Amino acid sequence: MFNNSQENGRAGQRCKVNKHLIIAGHIIGASLYQFRSQLLAWYEARARELPWRKNRDPYRVWLSEIMLQQTRVAAVVEHYHEFQRRFPDVKKLSAAREASVLAAWSGLGYYRRARMLHAAARIVAQKHGGKFPRTAQELRMLPGIGRYTAAAIASIAFGEPVAVVDGNVERVIQRITGNPLRGEKLWTEANGWLDRQRPGDFNQAMMELGAVVCTPRAPACLTCPVVHLCATRGELATGKKAAPRKKREAHYALNYRTNGRGCEVFLKRRSIQSSLMAGMWELPEIDDLSQVRSGGNAEPCLTVRHSITVTDYTVRVWRTSAPRSKGKWIPVEGLNNMALTGLARKILRKAGVIP
Ligand code: ADE
Repeated sequence: MFNNSQENGRAGQRCKVNKHLIIAGHIIGASLYQFRSQLLAWYEARARELPWRKNRDPYRVWLSEIMLQQTRVAAVVEHYHEFQRRFPDVKKLSAAREASVLAAWSGLGYYRRARMLHAAARIVAQKHGGKFPRTAQELRMLPGIGRYTAAAIASIAFGEPVAVVDGNVERVIQRITGNPLRGEKLWTEANGWLDRQRPGDFNQAMMELGAVVCTPRAPACLTCPVVHLCATRGELATGKKAAPRKKREAHYALNYRTNGRGCEVFLKRRSIQSSLMAGMWELPEIDDLSQVRSGGNAEPCLTVRHSITVTDYTVRVWRTSAPRSKGKWIPVEGLNNMALTGLARKILRKAGVIP
């Protein structure tokens, strides 16, 4: 672990830069002081302007951290404003129907997160009088908040000196030290590196560095603020292989009509028992293409690409009433408030049924 004797101290400024910064995989003394101050200066100057960084309101921070779990920043930015507009605070979120929460979540995937978010909002509203617990330890008692998320919220919103370790931080630490640290050793290392005066900024700066400079492939070492402290300067062979991606094809039926009540689309609700996207609405899936083809459809009306975890789907959409499945005609103007699956929303947008 780091030698923390000069933690944020002035003494660090007087020390000469040690040429052998990495000893047995750990930064020491003066270089630790440098690492913090250069990383933070870079973060202040270069951090992306992201909507949840406007202030340190715990509701905003919590929401962003849950949305960012396994989800790209660009996708989160797209949903964050609208979610905030619909549920501007924890009380409003706790009072909402689950279907409205899922509707606002639609497109972000991993819907279990939305259900947990809703359950946690109810606990904060009912048991904590609408105020978030202030420590990582207490935050971890809430649904959907694990070690990483608790540390992120506690440090960013409340200034608690606890380090975060996500995929980005893991890579930064492994490359700087030149040591493929894992598990508990990595958390201990991250806690040693933490700037205890500015834990929220420091944690975000580490994640930011991993996201925009110290990227998994082709890291931008030339623009890295701490390259001179880095043992690797490039990709580190960690022996970790990316999970192989699977390719699948799927077919869905798009059926819409216009009548006296306006435009309606035929949708099916997923089983409440389903392990994925339970209770959400989607287009009926076609298992047997011969039915569709015998109905006179030679070609799908559109094709979309959709990725779920390690599977890349090529989705063909057929303009047809088949298959005869249980479902419901839903007025198009009500779709915005329905819990549609991300794929259904993508198809309906691409088909021009919804804006
Ligand atoms: N990833 C998750 N939370 C983040 C944050 N606050 N800043 C940068 N990257 C993140």
